[in-house]
Amino acid sequence: MKLNIALLAGDGIGPEVIDQAVKVCDAVANKFNHTINWTPALTGAAAIDAVGEPYPDETHEICIAADAVLFGAIGHPRFDNDPTAKVRPEQGLLKMRKKLGLFANVRPTFTFPSLIDNSPLKRERIEGTDLVFLRELTGGIYFGKKGRKDNGNTAYDNCVYTKEEVTRLAKKGFELAMTRTKKLCCVDKANVLETSRLWRETVQNMEKDYPEVEVSYEFVDAVAMRLVQWPNSYDVLITENLFGDILTDEASVISGSMGLMPSASVGKENYLYEPIHGSYPQAAGKDIANPLATILSAAMMFEDAFKLKEEAKMIRDVVNRSLEEGIVTEDLSGNQRAYKTSEVGDWLVENI
Ligand code: IPM
Ligand code: MG
Repeated sequence: MKLNIALLAGDGIGPEVIDQAVKVCDAVANKFNHTINWTPALTGAAAIDAVGEPYPDETHEICIAADAVLFGAIGHPRFDNDPTAKVRPEQGLLKMRKKLGLFANVRPTFTFPSLIDNSPLKRERIEGTDLVFLRELTGGIYFGKKGRKDNGNTAYDNCVYTKEEVTRLAKKGFELAMTRTKKLCCVDKANVLETSRLWRETVQNMEKDYPEVEVSYEFVDAVAMRLVQWPNSYDVLITENLFGDILTDEASVISGSMGLMPSASVGKENYLYEPIHGSYPQAAGKDIANPLATILSAAMMFEDAFKLKEEAKMIRDVVNRSLEEGIVTEDLSGNQRAYKTSEVGDWLVENI
């Protein structure tokens, strides 16, 4: 097969982790006689520096033309402490999500048997965790009207959802639940927010179409607590944009490192794969960041975007072996030897 992949390395550790993912994908493609045509494109602070805009039109064209997009990370500290900055790298990410119509962000959380004790949570609480968040990604407070009034002394961010937005995300949730343990949790704040009441009402009305799925409705604050107490009790969780942003960072603690968790952002036509971690600027250029979240995102890409299951499995298997054999970066190495980002990539390629 010929695979056309847009490559958006982005900022911070993005380029380093993306390099490893490219090496691993090429090695797997080689094994199975696929050819990957990588098309690099600018995004984030790197794009602002080059062309003054974090998601340039040219990048958008490249993404649209590709079969899938592999994305590193976005963000640069020089913008974080400057609330007056007119363009910010993150705007590029939001624009990209919106323009590519990536309304569903799939964020799995699972544990690796060899890493259970890396999690700050107790083994008996997290063993066997295997859950998936479906976070709505192109609506809600992230995209509502925002601004200042009263000479800048009052600020507002509106949260808006339409029934159609909720329905298309929930549909993916029900469908995913059907392929797993048929348990779906709708996370909201329906005791306070009108948008949450629309979510709950919409999902309730869809229940009859999926009679086998057992649906629960839980408030986001309670989920935040139960997620680290009994993560095992969840399977598929659907939620709105901001709640999903917060809960998926929390969930990554279960797996032991943010550097491990992959994600997919999907819409009707476009597919994008990215690690859930950010650009980790303190580590940029040091060859110390964990490349596994990006590599596991590439595995999701093989499986979902290209329907190449064996290739995906080969990546996951070799990643598991690297963890078992302690070929890991400093976030996971404890008092053992820490391998460099590129050394982990090389080891994976050799073992493929
Ligand atoms: C994420 C990130 C982004 C988000 C930021 C970088 C805008 O935290 O993908 O979870 O809030 O969606
Ligand atoms: Mg986030």
